[in-house]
Amino acid sequence: MSATYELRGNVAVITLNNPPVNGLGHATRLGITQGLEKAEADSAVKAVVITGAGNAFSGGADIKEFGSPKAMAEPNLLSVIAAVEASSKPVVAAIHSVCMGGGLELALGCHYRVAAKGTQVALPEVKLGLLPGAGGTQRLPRVLGVETALNMIVSGEPVKSEMLASLPGQKLFDKLVDGDVVTAALALAAEVADKRPLPLVRNLKAKHPNADGYLQFARNSVGAMSRNYPAPLQCVEAVANAVYKPFDEGMRLELVAFQALMLTPESRALRHVFMAERATSKIPDVPADTPVRDVKKLAIIGAGTMGGGIAMNFLNAGMPVVMLEMKQEALDRGVATIRKNYEAQVKKGKLTQEKLDVRMGLLTTTLNYGDLKDADMVIEAVFEEMGVKEKVFKALDEVMKPGAILASNTSTLDVNQIAAFTKRPQDVIGTHFFSPANVMKLLEVIRGEKTAKDVLATVMALGKKIKKTCVVSGVCDGFIGNRMIEQYSRQGGFLLEEGATPEQVDKAIEKFGFAMGPFRMGDLAGNDIGWYIRKRRYVEQPEMIYSKTADVLCEMGRYGQKTGAGWYDYKPGKRDAIPSKEVVAMIEKVRAEKGITPRKISDQEIVQRLVYALVNEGAKILEEGIALRASDIDMVYLTGYGFPAFRGGPMCYADTQGLFNVVASMRRFQKNPRDDAKFWEPAPLLAKLAAEGKTFS
Ligand code: 3HC
Ligand code: NAI
Repeated sequence: MSATYELRGNVAVITLNNPPVNGLGHATRLGITQGLEKAEADSAVKAVVITGAGNAFSGGADIKEFGSPKAMAEPNLLSVIAAVEASSKPVVAAIHSVCMGGGLELALGCHYRVAAKGTQVALPEVKLGLLPGAGGTQRLPRVLGVETALNMIVSGEPVKSEMLASLPGQKLFDKLVDGDVVTAALALAAEVADKRPLPLVRNLKAKHPNADGYLQFARNSVGAMSRNYPAPLQCVEAVANAVYKPFDEGMRLELVAFQALMLTPESRALRHVFMAERATSKIPDVPADTPVRDVKKLAIIGAGTMGGGIAMNFLNAGMPVVMLEMKQEALDRGVATIRKNYEAQVKKGKLTQEKLDVRMGLLTTTLNYGDLKDADMVIEAVFEEMGVKEKVFKALDEVMKPGAILASNTSTLDVNQIAAFTKRPQDVIGTHFFSPANVMKLLEVIRGEKTAKDVLATVMALGKKIKKTCVVSGVCDGFIGNRMIEQYSRQGGFLLEEGATPEQVDKAIEKFGFAMGPFRMGDLAGNDIGWYIRKRRYVEQPEMIYSKTADVLCEMGRYGQKTGAGWYDYKPGKRDAIPSKEVVAMIEKVRAEKGITPRKISDQEIVQRLVYALVNEGAKILEEGIALRASDIDMVYLTGYGFPAFRGGPMCYADTQGLFNVVASMRRFQKNPRDDAKFWEPAPLLAKLAAEGKTFS
């Protein structure tokens, strides 16, 4: 049953019961209207209370229903709220835990609202590329004032009920309670049972002392901040309607905007991201109830760039960390960097000195493997050389307690080979953090051939604890993210040889929405990293073709920002990328040596070649089972590589373009004499889905 009905004395209690968050799906909506009809028909009933079972009043419209006919099937949410408003008996909302989106809109349609302290209240539709579509933009400004309501609607951020209840003149809550909210709502229902007329939010005014000026200010600031997203500005206009237009006209316009936004690619992408984010933790053969190992203390080997950043994640989560290095100086340097990072946060007001002291107090250091024996998990972040990893893992195998998890932060090496250095390969796993590891959301969790299921489940849970987006990857060179980025970088190089400049390529892909183009990114990360990998490829995979430009750049010592010059020039101490005449001359020389006559390349071609290079490799990764699902690949790119969220990730973007069109473009690129025809051979899975008219999702 999606909504239950019971009599408590002369009050009917309708309880939404649609786990996990009482989403207002069709059956639940039907349950509410049927309950209201029953209460209306029963002369013994004097009032109605609506509440939610479990851990939510309601998380809003059922997102899983979006796009299906059920979403708007009668009774839709607007009809449910209309039925609540039309009730001849007072309806009291008993709000607790989570009251969001359509859930809040339902509560706003009720005659009275009682809230439990600590309830998260939000209209988060904007995060799905929408605006509240069941009266939220019209009713919230009427109970909270224009400014507070607009802030909530445009940001989508949850606000605690006690904060809202403390606002002067607020009419959102009639009561805020500490204890059982249903008991309090029943008491209020008894109090107001005979009171008439019944109060309706629609009869209030949406007020602001200087509405014209404030709304113009809101349009300007929201417009500037939401460049690629249509929803936030629509939210402002809808709230303006609440101020200037009659209630019913405001409602009509809100619905028109809601339905239009629902069809935008931005909303589709953001809804995809919402689901994709939650799907990452679902591993088909590792059920959610798989027992996890107890991890209370961490050990980290290597106090360099990654070791320090990784340690901070666990210190932030209140876990003790012991860090091991080869030399005291390296330990001292690592600890000093961690302290400096925390001090910078204190300076910015993001951390208190007390918390800094607590976190640093959790950190110990050692040069001795024996000191790791009480750690429940160790993460190795030493040099990227198999020989070094071998020594470390053999040493760890000797000292770590039975059942301890042994993780490697390797970015390219074979985790199965690393596991084989130990007598406990079932306890070995890859944890591929991204730099800076204390900032970046992404954690690729590398499942080795022999990794035990409970080890995988434990690391996924631990990743969640340190607030990472964890994506499972199988073992392959570069795992999901770096394996794909290599193809993207290769295309970047080919584009230069054919006639583009680094600036043109970067600008085109940044206009598409990427946080940073491949060349600015290379300068930031260090061009020598790719050079090192290519040198390995020249030996191991001589058939793999690369543009010569990146090698020549490194031969010129232009490693990027760290050497003050890369694809761009940099002024000392500055990060602004200045187009470089020297680099343009170098590219022209490479072209001349290869006999290439440069041509003008459109921004559209640049974007397609870069993004479809990702998509094609993504399709191979999917087919090989390295990624569990296409949406996991999207999450890797959204959280680790600056792919624009409003495009949903590379695989989602390909789906929206139509896989048939993607393949057609690739076939066109295959004919380009300067590009690598083999490169553009569509992955079998991509070709198959395109031929069948299907999508990755
Ligand atoms: N509909 C359907 N399922 C939902 C849902 C919703 N509105 N909100 C959350 N869920 C599901 C999730 O998919 C997840 O399912 P899973 O267990 O199968 O993966 C489960 O609930 C738990 O979600 P979280 O992992 O996010 O759990 P948290 O406890 O961290 O957060 C939450 C709970 C705060 C409710 C968070 O899920 C959230 O912010 N949900 C989105 C709420 C939202 O956007 N509501 C607006 C919907 S649009 C709308 O109402 C339109 C209306 O204006 C017409
Ligand atoms: P780094 O060079 O900054 O740090 C490595 C540290 O390991 C050094 O402090 C070194 O003294 C120490 N070390 C080396 N051998 C050791 C040993 N036998 N015992 C103990 N300590 C030892 O390197 P970085 O960048 O931190 O990389 C570490 C690992 O993380 C590598 O496997 C790398 O591929 C991987 N990685 C790096 C990323 C990056 O952006 N730097 C991103 C993701 C993974």
